[in-house]
Amino acid sequence: MASRRSVLGGALGVSSLVVLPGTAAASRGGGGFADPFTLGVASGDPLPDSVVLWTRLAPDPLDPGSMPSRAVPVGWQLAHDESFRRVAAAGTAWARPELGHSVHVEPRGLDPDRWYFFRFRAGGHLSPVGRTRTAPAPWAARPLRMAATSCQSYTDGYYTAYRHLAEEDVDLVAFLGDWIYEDPDSWFTRGVVRPHGDFEPMTLEEYRHRHATYRLDPDLQLASARFPFLPTWDDHEVVNNWAGMLEPPGRPNPTPDFAARRAAAFQAYYEHLPLRRAQIPAGPDALMYRGLRWGRTADLFLLDTRQYRDDQACGDFNKPVCDEWDDPDRSMLGPAQERWLLNKLATSTATWKAIPQQVPMGQWELDNDPAVRRRSMDTWDGYPAARQRILEFIAERDIDNVAVLSGDVHWHMAHDLTLNMEDPDAAPVAADFVCTSITSGRDGGDSPSGTLASNPHLRYSLNRRGYLRCDIDRETWLTSYRVVPYVTTPGAPLETRARLALEAGRPGLQQA
Ligand SMILES: [Fe+2]
Repeated sequence: MASRRSVLGGALGVSSLVVLPGTAAASRGGGGFADPFTLGVASGDPLPDSVVLWTRLAPDPLDPGSMPSRAVPVGWQLAHDESFRRVAAAGTAWARPELGHSVHVEPRGLDPDRWYFFRFRAGGHLSPVGRTRTAPAPWAARPLRMAATSCQSYTDGYYTAYRHLAEEDVDLVAFLGDWIYEDPDSWFTRGVVRPHGDFEPMTLEEYRHRHATYRLDPDLQLASARFPFLPTWDDHEVVNNWAGMLEPPGRPNPTPDFAARRAAAFQAYYEHLPLRRAQIPAGPDALMYRGLRWGRTADLFLLDTRQYRDDQACGDFNKPVCDEWDDPDRSMLGPAQERWLLNKLATSTATWKAIPQQVPMGQWELDNDPAVRRRSMDTWDGYPAARQRILEFIAERDIDNVAVLSGDVHWHMAHDLTLNMEDPDAAPVAADFVCTSITSGRDGGDSPSGTLASNPHLRYSLNRRGYLRCDIDRETWLTSYRVVPYVTTPGAPLETRARLALEAGRPGLQQA
């Protein structure tokens, strides 16, 4: 435990964390339980006057009985300095067994555009120190430095990319989906670099176990303690390629009651992520789409492309297109979320309209022959009418500076989004920065995609692991494609393999 704390402390530039008298990490404190802060701390969803502070009490997170089954008071402090001399806000929250003893504090009345430090105390134990910040005031023209990450299959490798990300000077990390993976270890025919358990989670207790395994990772803890996150989910937080209230055909363990499984998965997700009260699930439903404003520089519209979508067309997965594929009635967002997004896009007064979400919006024709249409039925490529409605709305209303951020496919990519992505001369109306995985897909390689000729609007692609860094001001959006050359062994260096930019008021990606 001491080494984990010193790792966190070192990254924060804190040589010795303040330990209150009587606190002994290895002992059972006054609460009658051992150090409960094994999963670290995190923060999320910054507003100009508030940010969510998160931890979960779990002395042995893989043992559901390691906390007493009663509500436990948790003191919290938010300070201007990392030695907690200038405390800005403090209070007591309750960690309740119904929510896995997770703690989600939403302090109010904070200063806009400020960095803060925070920590928790429970049962005589003190947590590691986290660093977080508030958003700028709505009228401020502050730049936004944002990272994006996705797809962190524990079994596929080490979170070296998070270790490097923790060194970046970013304000916010948007997480685009696949926080956990559900397949049992023994199903990974390529083998496992790090086992996450040879079971497929179905129940709340099983999802908690899976989430706890991921949260125990020291590199994930490092990045989580360093910046606020803006998380959304994709499919693997529940089960591969789920859609609405359906799982895909042919699962080896068909789910007996999908609504109950979705409810368990949603609750465990909420318990392990720094989300607001508005995101607490009600059974199998949870409001995950939401907005976040970064002054006059950017509005962020975070989507949920899983919960309200119609079933995948043509039997799902990568398929030649079939009749139902372009049915205009098929929806990706569901009617309410689609209306919400279009209304937000039309009324935003920020320079950039960013849409962090799960599955790529840029078309990726999977066949080398441009005449063949073989598409992923799980991404926006499988919902072409829904995609077209959004892009035509942007074009017709002349909404400028729209940048989509996507995950899911475990490739770094950049697409110009046009009204006809089969036409090499079509004018861009928006851009899609696709973020590769943290680990999923293992090391990858440098050979280029064979489908470049079939995808004339595709500006960049690379099958490597890493994350995106976006430097956004009122003139320019610059995305840097960060890469680690390997994840199956620890210690990879960080490389920047590409930089692509958008200029405000001028659609179309440019090399930078
Ligand atoms: Fe993934």
